[in-house]
Amino acid sequence: MKGIILAGGKGTRLYPMTKVISKQLLPIYDKPLIYYPLSTLMLAGIQEILIISTPNDIPMYRQLLDDGSRLGISISYAVQYEPKGLAEAFIIGEEFIGNDPVCLILGDNVFFGQYFTDILQKTKNELCGATIFGYAVKNPRDFGVVEFDKDYHVVSIEEKPEKPKSNYAVPGLYFYDNQVIGIAKNLTPSARGELEITDVNKAYLEKGQLKVSLLGRGMAWLDTGTPTGMMKASQFVENVQSRQGFYISCPEEIAWRRGFITTERLIELGQELAMTDYGKYLISLPEENF
Ligand code: G1P
Repeated sequence: MKGIILAGGKGTRLYPMTKVISKQLLPIYDKPLIYYPLSTLMLAGIQEILIISTPNDIPMYRQLLDDGSRLGISISYAVQYEPKGLAEAFIIGEEFIGNDPVCLILGDNVFFGQYFTDILQKTKNELCGATIFGYAVKNPRDFGVVEFDKDYHVVSIEEKPEKPKSNYAVPGLYFYDNQVIGIAKNLTPSARGELEITDVNKAYLEKGQLKVSLLGRGMAWLDTGTPTGMMKASQFVENVQSRQGFYISCPEEIAWRRGFITTERLIELGQELAMTDYGKYLISLPEENF
């Protein structure tokens, strides 16, 4: 399975913070925001990743992550010139996806929770058609919203509805089989001029091939859409990390635990950052007994 991180857009809702730098390069506590979705893909066991962003920002992502080989993965880059919608990712990424299934994650989506790795791996291994997720929120109007019948079968999906039919939002994490490329190519732009991911999901729903997996209340799906959201997400990460001593979404740790890199490489990566707690954490991992 291939993975795509969509980190495009102009970030206008976060101006002036994002006037000269991509939102996904800004920190959530101690690491750039993009480390979080990157970690999610790596936890799913995905090692071939495409980052889609603007022509301005791609050089910075390259500087940060290069070709991924230091993490034992492969990262390539592609340009989205205009914010023409999430579903455009599958058209831009057609060649990269090839004949494989694909997982798309939005560059600003932060997930954390027990059993999340199991959920990701199960979703990847059992994929048939499309699997998306449902997560209860207080402000469903800001998202794609899933409606269920009493047996929790999906009845409808609506993009940012005025009157949401449930409080289950669709997070920016989507698993699709290879049909998604053809589906994306057949979409017409919505009223806001975008190829909507919700329309892709509706196409799968019409075919009877859409699964919505509910994420329970033990999962955190954090909002990074506003300055306050970013601050709260940072506080959340700081809280958990300083309490437990484990880092949230540390790609180097995940690469090591999953066997993508050796212990020697992990230590090397840590030594490059040895002046920081982050670097010290990497160096300490092989010595800890967990
Ligand atoms: C997008 C999707 C929406 C989804 C959300 C998750 O919204 O269109 O369906 O619920 O991401 O983050 P946008 O960020 O484009 O407003």
